[in-house]
Amino acid sequence: MAARLIDGKALAQTVRDRIAADTKDLQAKTGVRPGLATILVGEDPASALYVRSKQKACEAAGISIEDFKLSAATSQAELLTLVEKMNHDPNIHGILVQLPLPKQIDTKVILNAVDPLKDADGFHPYNLGKLVEGNPVFEACTPKGIIAMIDSTGVAIEGKRAVVVGRSNIVGKPVALMLLHRHATVTVCHSKTKDLPAVCREADILVVAIGKAKFVTADMVKDGAVVIDVGTNRLADGKFVGDVDFEPVSQRAGWISPVPGGVGPMTITMLLANTLESAKRTAVAKAT
Ligand code: GUN
Repeated sequence: MAARLIDGKALAQTVRDRIAADTKDLQAKTGVRPGLATILVGEDPASALYVRSKQKACEAAGISIEDFKLSAATSQAELLTLVEKMNHDPNIHGILVQLPLPKQIDTKVILNAVDPLKDADGFHPYNLGKLVEGNPVFEACTPKGIIAMIDSTGVAIEGKRAVVVGRSNIVGKPVALMLLHRHATVTVCHSKTKDLPAVCREADILVVAIGKAKFVTADMVKDGAVVIDVGTNRLADGKFVGDVDFEPVSQRAGWISPVPGGVGPMTITMLLANTLESAKRTAVAKAT
């Protein structure tokens, strides 16, 4: 039987409509309008497009944008000065430094410099630590979007075998922790995992984030599994495909997310959600 589609685009729109209504309400009641600073260093076209999508989604939801585009030659000290300025700007509730950064800049130093209470991307070590503790302030956007997508299927996470393929700090590790907190039994696979197909076949929930086009084939998927494809790989013909071989896998899975139109729109939506949550915390702090 063909899998049911997890339509990230439609789900994202539903959540964004709610965020827009909450944003309007917050501003009417408290005068606080959520604000996001976006910082793009350099001219990488893919990063520029990604930042533009985030800005458009924010504006559509009533979240204000402070847009910073810095030259590829920007020094680490200059970027730190801007981050520090945004940390102290009362109209800014979220700070997004688009990655990757040029090589003269140490990404870790920059991520550490963002105020953890404005870390809408959830990349600061403080927020990663809070996630380990099970008490997150900001959750990273892609993992948070993935959990919302799994929840949208109605399939319970508790007690399931979840397999995460990929161990990055921004997707694999945090999503594994979130699944663990939701009481899944979680296995994290990576390039050194022995017999990866056999491990994947045990998954009731399979999250794939390794950046290899069509890596997961139908023989690696359990009948009826929920399959979340985080990859966006550009092929020679310019088309984007995920890390999952969509057509054959959708003959076996119970649920599957497409690329494009799956995780991508949900990642952006969770950035909006995090910025709004941060603005709400500011409003509460102001009132007390
Ligand atoms: N580069 C690729 N994905 C992301 C993301 O989610 N946030 C930031 N800041 N940079 C990225």
